[in-house]
Amino acid sequence: NYLRHVESLAVLPSGAGKISHLNAVILGEALASEENDLVFPSEEFSRQALVPSPMKYMEMYRRSIEDPAGFWSEIASEFYWKQKWGTTVYSENLDVRKGPIKIEWFKGGITNICYNALDRNIEAGNGDKIAIYWEGNDLGQDGSLTYSSLLEKVCQLANYLKDIGVRKGDAVVIYLPMLMELPIAMLACARIGAIHSVVFAGFSADSLAQRIVDCKPKAVITCNAVRRGPKVIHLKDIVDDALAESAKSGVSVDVCLTYENQSAMNRHDTKWQKGRDIWWQDTIPEYPTTCEIEWVDAEDPLFLLYTSGSTGKPKGVLHTTGGYMIYTATTFKYAFDYKPPDIYWCTADCGWITGHSYVTYGPLLNGATVIVFEGVPSYPDPGRCWNIVDKYKVTLFYTAPTLVRSLMREGDEYVTRYSRKSLRVLGSVGEPINPSAWRWFFNIVGDSRCPISDTWWQTETGGFLITPLPGAWPQKPGSATFPFFGVQPVIVDEKGAEIEGECSGYLCIKSSWPGAFRTLYGDHERYETTYFKPFPGYYFSGDGCSRDKDGYHWLTGRVDDVINVSGHRIGTAEVESALVSHPQCAEAAVVGVEHEVKGQGIYAFVTLVDGVPYSEELRKSLTLAVRKQFHCQIGPFAAPDKIHWAPGLPKTRSGKIMRRILRKIASRQLDELGDTSTLADPNVVDQLIALSDC
Ligand code: WT7
Repeated sequence: NYLRHVESLAVLPSGAGKISHLNAVILGEALASEENDLVFPSEEFSRQALVPSPMKYMEMYRRSIEDPAGFWSEIASEFYWKQKWGTTVYSENLDVRKGPIKIEWFKGGITNICYNALDRNIEAGNGDKIAIYWEGNDLGQDGSLTYSSLLEKVCQLANYLKDIGVRKGDAVVIYLPMLMELPIAMLACARIGAIHSVVFAGFSADSLAQRIVDCKPKAVITCNAVRRGPKVIHLKDIVDDALAESAKSGVSVDVCLTYENQSAMNRHDTKWQKGRDIWWQDTIPEYPTTCEIEWVDAEDPLFLLYTSGSTGKPKGVLHTTGGYMIYTATTFKYAFDYKPPDIYWCTADCGWITGHSYVTYGPLLNGATVIVFEGVPSYPDPGRCWNIVDKYKVTLFYTAPTLVRSLMREGDEYVTRYSRKSLRVLGSVGEPINPSAWRWFFNIVGDSRCPISDTWWQTETGGFLITPLPGAWPQKPGSATFPFFGVQPVIVDEKGAEIEGECSGYLCIKSSWPGAFRTLYGDHERYETTYFKPFPGYYFSGDGCSRDKDGYHWLTGRVDDVINVSGHRIGTAEVESALVSHPQCAEAAVVGVEHEVKGQGIYAFVTLVDGVPYSEELRKSLTLAVRKQFHCQIGPFAAPDKIHWAPGLPKTRSGKIMRRILRKIASRQLDELGDTSTLADPNVVDQLIALSDC
């Protein structure tokens, strides 16, 4: 049914008429047509593209839906398997009514993702190709590793980890900034079958401790400090605090491997716990540069990555090896139209899923050259990104709407003073990209030449689910367009019934894809409740979505209590619990509000303990409480943008906070408050409005 639906749309994108006509337009010059808002790829681009037309997309998409086993095993066969998977390529149950949720791909297949990313590419003759270009925080600080030298470094660390007793299935926490050592550490874990859990090196000691307590790692890998722009951040101090705290919960870690990041801090200034702390540079180079591979089952865990949910406790999203490998490699290849000469730069940090799938695994599995950037895009000035693009002749540039918007505010000058001629494809991820930012990205950054892949996906999905394939489709600024191969998105209504045609509702996915997460670490029940119970029979994304008359998908943001600030997912409950941890705060309710640069900002309503007056000082200390307990030293994205003092909160008679009303007050849509008669005390609304500017 869905297939027929997409097929009919493939023939008739709006304003393009019949298929022959569409072809003619696609083969024309790049043009942005205001009436139908379609932006067509140039003839030159489409001609060389891996998927050059809607017809080719349809042919591949059709196959992927009608014969997922055949489609994916053909692709998987291009990778190395010590032993092939059994006769069942995949098995799944996404329906809670039929029993426990289960997803398996290539079960019984024996492989190793590090082998496929490094050894396989070296054996194919690419040993001398650059795997990683590293660009430091300061201009002129850089380095690089070929595939062969990267493998040697990975093997040395892998041998060390084995030496200290890390075995297959053990967890290792990695708390590193964007140094080459970060992907090296991930790959070293993968090589020996250990489960890496990268924690973004900007999270507070509390957040790090919480994750350590949850996954009980055999070792923590970190560095002493990092420079981000003009600031120095003492990461090792944060780790020390986290380890002290996790020890109180009975989880002690024996080894803290620390890289000396000399440009940020000298080792003599680093606090040291003898016996536990080990300098990377003193130890790792002593180990052999080859290391035997631990062959693992396709369904053995590869990594854990914690993400925010709508309750306070972060969720340990668990990805396994085989399906994730095939899915990240394939999505990377098609969504960026990857060719071997490409130079690829994704601005995301490996602390997020984007860095896992599209800095480390997806690109390296394709034998690509990637850039790892330690610094920030605004340092030393807002032209840094384009300086890097020109320096390395970047062809594929993948970033987030919040960065696009903040650079847009700095003016075109910073962009146009650089050539950017090398750019071929642009990418966007993290939140919906608003059409004006899209157009600026397209016209100014990409000189109206480069298609934009607006990739919709999640930590949970492992890789892209809805994304343009550059060269295949005419684009609509702000739309993530169509599903990737093998993905069947559906839009359902409140009751979980699929709605067809032009519509909007809740975005769900029918049937699994290889890169899907398999569970929440240690909490399969929460996995089922959060993602599969809301709409039985489907994976529920937590996002709202509409589909236009041409079948293009438009993501409309989270529909649960999660806020997306600068592409970072923040649970309102997490911020609330940080606020109420402040001794003078009685109650807190947090909602998201529109924010010009960050997409969404955090708006907190707080009631104070009886007798405590509201003051500027108190506001500051509440903000600090959030920053300290939750995130974050780098980029204060979790800090509330506005704290609104509330003598009382609007509650139903049963005591439930009516967030709908708070959202309206926060966004000053006072004429849309709706029915307030069911409130226990309707007066609180007027009080709140009166206090809006305090
Ligand atoms: C949430 C997932 C996926 C890597 C980065 C964030 C939002 C992500 C898009 C997009 C509209 C997007 C969704 C999603 N989101 N990409 N292209 N268009 N919304 O990963 O932290 O797991 O967050 O980010 O709301 O649910 P994440």
